[in-house]
This record gives sequence, C-alpha cells and structure tokens, in this order.
Amino acid sequence: MTTPTQSGKDRVVIFDTTLRDGEQCPGATMTHEEKLAVAELLDDMGVDIIEAGFPIASEGDFAAVREIAQRSKNAVICGLSRAAFKDIDRCAEAIKPAKRKRIHTFLSTSPVHMKYKLQKEPHEVYEMVIAQVTRARSHTDDVEWSSEDGTRTEMDFLCRCVEAAIKAGATTINIPDTVGYTTPEEYFNLFKTVRERVPNSDKAVFSTHCHNDLGMAVANSLAGVNAGARQIECTVNGIGERAGNAALEEIVMAIKTRNDVLPYTTGIDTTMLTRASKLVAAATSFPVQYNKAIVGRNAFAHESGIHQDGMLKNAQTYEIMTPESVGVKQTSLVMGKHSGRHAFIHKLEELGYQLAGNQLEDAFVRFKALADRKKQIYDEDIEALVDEEIAHAHDRIKVLSLTVIAGTMGPQTATLTLDIEGKHVTTQSTGNGPVDAIFKAIRALVPHEATLELYQVHAVTEGTDAQAEVSVRLSEQGRSYTAKGADPDTLVASAKAYLGALNKLTSKRSKTPGIEQRIHSTDVG
Ligand code: KIV
Ligand code: ZN
Repeated sequence: MTTPTQSGKDRVVIFDTTLRDGEQCPGATMTHEEKLAVAELLDDMGVDIIEAGFPIASEGDFAAVREIAQRSKNAVICGLSRAAFKDIDRCAEAIKPAKRKRIHTFLSTSPVHMKYKLQKEPHEVYEMVIAQVTRARSHTDDVEWSSEDGTRTEMDFLCRCVEAAIKAGATTINIPDTVGYTTPEEYFNLFKTVRERVPNSDKAVFSTHCHNDLGMAVANSLAGVNAGARQIECTVNGIGERAGNAALEEIVMAIKTRNDVLPYTTGIDTTMLTRASKLVAAATSFPVQYNKAIVGRNAFAHESGIHQDGMLKNAQTYEIMTPESVGVKQTSLVMGKHSGRHAFIHKLEELGYQLAGNQLEDAFVRFKALADRKKQIYDEDIEALVDEEIAHAHDRIKVLSLTVIAGTMGPQTATLTLDIEGKHVTTQSTGNGPVDAIFKAIRALVPHEATLELYQVHAVTEGTDAQAEVSVRLSEQGRSYTAKGADPDTLVASAKAYLGALNKLTSKRSKTPGIEQRIHSTDVG
C-alpha cells in the first residue's frame, strides 16, 4: 500500500519511537514531564505516529501514554503491547483519549526467539499472531503487527505470519531488524520478497524498524523504503537499545537532501530537528556525539584552513545542506543583565520553548541570576538553563546551598543544605576531592545504595566563565538513571546532576514497586 502525494512522490510515514524504544535503553529514563515535552515537540514537528510507551510495563508508562494521548494534536498516538490480551487491553486503555490511535502488538518469529525466549512451536506462534491482532482490532481500526527478530526469521514462516496478521486486520506490518544484523541489500530483498509473496500484502503499509549494532540502521531503513516500505520507525538522536535505533534526523535529511535518488516526502519540519535533538539530549541526559550527522555540534563546523577558505568563497563547496535547514542558528551573543522579561520571552520563543506560569517565572529569575555572574549570555546558556528548569521542575530534592573547601591543603569538605519536599537538612562531609565530598554529603542526607556509573563535565560555551554542564548516571537494581546539571560553578552543577539522577531514581521507585517488566526480558513478546 503506497500513498503518492501531489508532487507524485510517495509519502513516507515517520513513526517515532524515542519515548518507547529510545527510553527503554539503559540510562535514558525520562520523567513524566519530560515525556510530555518531547511528545509535544514531535507532534509540532510533524511526526506522523508517536509511539508513546509500553503501557503494561509500569504505572508510569501507562500514565505517560495516557496523558500524551489526551494532549495529542495531529499525530497518531501509539502504544506497544506484547501478544497477551491483558497487554493489549491495557494499551487500548492508555491510548483511548487520543484523537487518532494505534495499537502496536509484536511477537517473535525467528527460530532462536521462538525456541529460547517464547519456548513455543511455530504453529503456536502462528495462532498467537491471529489472536493478538484480532484482539487489538476489537479496540481500534489502526493496528500494527511486528515480527520481532524479523530479519532472522525463515522466509516461509515470515510470509505466513504476515499474511495471517493482515487477514486478522493488521493495517501496518513492521519487520524489525531487532538485533541490527541485516545489510541494505538483504533488507531490500526481504521486503521485496514478502511484498511479492504474500497475497494480501497490498492491504497493509510495510514498515522498517532498524537497530544500529553494525552502524547500518539508517541505510537499512532507506533500503526497505526502496523496496516498498512506506513507514520508517526511528528515534531522535538514534537513541535506543544497545547501539540505538535508526536516527530520525538522518533519515529525514537523507530523503530531503538526496531526493534525486530517494524520491519520497515526509511531513517533518526539518527546521525543528536541532531543537528536538537538544530536547531529547537534555531529557535523557544522553549527550550527542560531536561528529553526529545532522545534529552533532561539529556537523556544520569547518576547521581546516582549506575548508574555511572554500566556505568563504561559496558555502556549497563543503556544505550539502544548510545549517538553517535543520534549525541551527548562528551562536549569538544574546542577552545580558539589562535584558528584560520581554526580551527573555522573545528569545525563548526563538529557541523553540513555550514556558508559562511558574516555570517561566523560575526560568527568568535564574536567567537574571546567571546574567549577574556571567557577562555574556549565549543561546546555549539559555538552552542549558531552560532544559534544566524543565527537567528538574518537579524534583523532590533540591540544592539550597553548597560551600566547598578545596585545594592542596585538604581534606576537601562540602557543607550542603538540601530541600527535601520542603524540609531543609544540612550536613558536612569530607572526601577524596571536592566532588567526592559533595556526593558523600548527598548520600548522608539521602541514604541510598545506587552506584555512580558516570560523571562527566563539559563547558556549555567557550570562556573561563562558561557554565559547566555535568552528567551523572546512577544505577540501582539493573536500572540506570542519568541527569544533567548546569551552573557556572562546576561543583554546584555536579550536585545538581547527582540529585537529578537521584530524583529520577526515587520517583521511579515510588511509582513502580519492585522492578517493572521490561519488554525484552518477558515471555510473551
Ligand atoms: O526491535 C524490535 O524488534 C522492537 C519491536 C518491539 C518492534 O523494538
Ligand atoms: Zn526495537
């Protein structure tokens, strides 16, 4: 099934799974508010389908999918479910408020998954496919069925399952490269063969879903489209299980820039790609690698003399797309301590933020405080400040004050006062360096067993008065929580980042007693 547009070029549907497959990867956990902010941006950017979560996984996932469904504008809101009826029903309940809704239900079809993960015979799996799609169709007309580990599935069995799923009412058929194993040519042939062999294949839209274990997720997705798939599943910044999923921004810009050989269209407003990348990086606290295609900080930087010379003569010498087309703005000296509320609001709008009420007030107060300490305020400073405001607005535990004694004389000492749900508590700790002293003080005030997996510092802008942005990852019971903190004082930023991760960890704990189900370790998916 294809959908030619007015331009005569087939429309490729962009299915974003940042909030499901992306959020599922270790350390990328987002808070409820962060998920809402990401979903809103994806909707505004023109994403066709937002996979908002896996409702049966936890109360938190359910609540997020439901609220995203309530707030949805144009995008179809989709939830994931395994084959079990209780999963499918829970998913249907979560997406109910959406204007347009989809149930995405999946089941493994490869020999290795059927034997070891499902412990089921192929004929049992075949019957489950029919049952799961039929159940999903009893809730909505828009049903997607995925053959998990599709690229390692035997072709005859894959075709039989796809035919049965379509017959049972699936309107989209997704064939995932779950383990990132396929190659472009192989994936092309897979779609070509399935579409040719399955008698009712014209009744469904075919979809790609590629993981990046061998670095071919984007190339594979585009190969699938060349073979007739018309939906691509992808994530912002390519976040996802292991090496991640196909990156949305790379797919969209490849289609736009090489439309001569990829004659398709998408509904994405590409000028919002940079903003989306920054929001997801801030919400997940997953930094974007400097040389990442499209959204890396070096993606449009020209360092060598020869390149700079060429660029000055004509930008096309070394640029195949303009920075503006993906929403990169020239770094500008934006504001200082004399800038007022109007200028601040205007700048926020220019950067793509829509803050209101207390959040706007708090961000403005923090901007003023920053402007008092830092002469030159750049766009990046404001982005770091606002991203932190959004990420930490609902934190239970906040830094009230911090004094650190550091230097050669030792021992390094931190005196820390925290606000824990309105109660102020203070302690003093010594440590092997100032950061160690601060983290020990936090541990004394908020006892916990989590281990520190990552501590990383980078400067938001240039200059010795630049804000520091610190990332901290904590892990407990096999789950990781990452957060960022920004401040002109690296030690304060460190405390904020640690507390950010701790807030995520404790809020997850209170929402989901015990370890919640994760989809790849379960028995019916
Ligand atoms: O990678 C995968 O197979 C998945 C499915 C659940 C679609 O994420
Ligand atoms: Zn996946």
